[in-house]
Amino acid sequence: MPILNLSFEENYICKKNEMRIDVLTILPELLESPLNFSMLKRAQDKKLAEIYVHNIRDYSTDKHKSVDDYSFGGSAGMVMLIQPIEDLILKLKAERHYDEIIYMTPDAKVFNQREANRMSMYENIMILCGHYKGVDQRVRDNYITKEISIGDYVLTGGELAAAIVIDSIVRLIPGVLSDETSALTDSHQDGLLSPPVYTRPADYKGWKVPEVLLSGNDKKINEWRENMSLEITRRVRPDLLEEY
Ligand code: ADE
Repeated sequence: MPILNLSFEENYICKKNEMRIDVLTILPELLESPLNFSMLKRAQDKKLAEIYVHNIRDYSTDKHKSVDDYSFGGSAGMVMLIQPIEDLILKLKAERHYDEIIYMTPDAKVFNQREANRMSMYENIMILCGHYKGVDQRVRDNYITKEISIGDYVLTGGELAAAIVIDSIVRLIPGVLSDETSALTDSHQDGLLSPPVYTRPADYKGWKVPEVLLSGNDKKINEWRENMSLEITRRVRPDLLEEY
């Protein structure tokens, strides 16, 4: 069962949840590499996430296996057909309940860390990747429960955007990251950007690590990090301070 009654922090610290993600695309090849390396591979190997990529074209009933057609009203660009998408959505929905059926599009609210936290607690999600001028509006009206943009710019298709959303939520599933890389200390997790980090040597050609980080005084180090976070956020992303 989804554990949405828990806050992200409570969920992160005490629960393990597994997630299934079904991606619907006309270009499955575009997702092969992003979904099968690094953290996403590790999450799947550890059985914390299952990610299935479905080729919409396989569900087209027309003899040319079409997935798009001209736009009514004559505007430029092709529109993705309802039929293959609907058949695939209905097949998947008959097999399990989905917490959200998501459509990747630049015409939506922009995704952020708060959304990633919320979605990391879901059990099953479906993600439809748009192409050309997008999908027939009736798919959006009748099946889509959430629309996501990753930013105010237009990509060729929704696949790379979907990979970004999947990466950001799967790494938050408890057990995917090790303690040292805990998502609780990520940039944006507390609404602020991260403080600078340093590693050895403490002095590289005269470029010195801030003294406080070498002091061993945890209280002072935490204070320094908080102050740096605030200062960097104020300078680079003042909008975040208004938002939270
Ligand atoms: N498809 C094309 N551009 C996109 C964007 N900015 N976000 C999500 N999906 C997209």
